[in-house]
Amino acid sequence: MNDLKTQLLQADKNGIEKAGQLLKQGEVVGIPTETVYGLAASSLDGRAVKKIFEAKGRPQDNPLISHISDLSMLELVVRDIPQSAYQLANAFWPGPLTIILHRSSQVADEVCAGLDTASVRMPSHPVAQAVIRAAGVPLAAPSANLSGSPSPTIAKDVLEDMDGRIPLILDGGTCQVGVESTVVSLVGEQPMLLRPGYITKEQLEEVLGCQVRLADAVLHQLKAGEKAASPGMKYKHYAPKADVTILKGDFSAYRSYVEAHYEEGVFCLCFSDEEKLLPCPCVCYGHETEPAEQANRLFSALRELDAQGARVVYARCPRQDGISLAVYNRLLRAAAFRVVTL
Ligand code: TXA
Ligand code: MG
Repeated sequence: MNDLKTQLLQADKNGIEKAGQLLKQGEVVGIPTETVYGLAASSLDGRAVKKIFEAKGRPQDNPLISHISDLSMLELVVRDIPQSAYQLANAFWPGPLTIILHRSSQVADEVCAGLDTASVRMPSHPVAQAVIRAAGVPLAAPSANLSGSPSPTIAKDVLEDMDGRIPLILDGGTCQVGVESTVVSLVGEQPMLLRPGYITKEQLEEVLGCQVRLADAVLHQLKAGEKAASPGMKYKHYAPKADVTILKGDFSAYRSYVEAHYEEGVFCLCFSDEEKLLPCPCVCYGHETEPAEQANRLFSALRELDAQGARVVYARCPRQDGISLAVYNRLLRAAAFRVVTL
């Protein structure tokens, strides 16, 4: 499928205009958002959305998030909107929160992948907003990686995965958040957190004034045949080529374990400033006490491990509350759920 010439343009006025034109013609464009880069196409155009699935190699049963630039677009994507959705929108939009509701009839079937629900968010990144306005429609956009690879947080990573597959990538610099949006479903009896992100479970509960359930698949591997609330959670994800294992315990236990298991090709995925105390090559993903920094660095650290030829990776374990829950959730998938408790 490497027949297209992929242009990489600065996300300036000219680049945004070009993106708008291509999107209106039913093409797919790589765009920056505050979370990760996305592969965008019109949510209302099934043929355009199909091209996203082809470019990513994404399983057909995994639905896409629609991105809107203002609330007037909301009803193009979803219907029967409850008060709680407006409460969340008021508190967190524009920003890294995705809300699942019942789907509208206008949104393309391909976006919903056979479900009767649709997911929507209003990104805060000025380039994402400008591109949606230029296209004039909600944009379906999954993360701009090949299915199964770590999500891209810089334009170069998008080009690495998408060269020859899409006509245009807009370069808007490094994504601030670094992990994908928080996904919350409001279609059941109780709000359910399907994917943790920068907006935390605790923040959602405070605004909604009720408990939010954590979907089982956030922290546990689904058993064969078990149905995921969010189809994306059943796939192996965010994985570098190396075998990653999370080591749960304090730093001195971690160091002893790594010392005992060190050989050629072993790398540490550690917290910043720990590298000087470890016996093998290290890639850091932020300071131990800085979860937002860890979220920001994790995916580029995973790509860096591949670039350095890591075969086996021992990862330091983040906390499991607040933003750290998002970091832990992504790392668990990168590690195919291999965790050793020290
Ligand atoms: O931050 C983000 O959300 C990024 C940027 C580009 O906006 N997008 C993103 O999209 O992460 P994607 O496709 O990589 O992840 C969407 C996740 C998947 O796990 C999918 O299964 C789930 O959201 N999802 C989407 N619509 C859903 C629905 N109607 N019901 C349940 N899960 C849904
Ligand atoms: Mg993704």
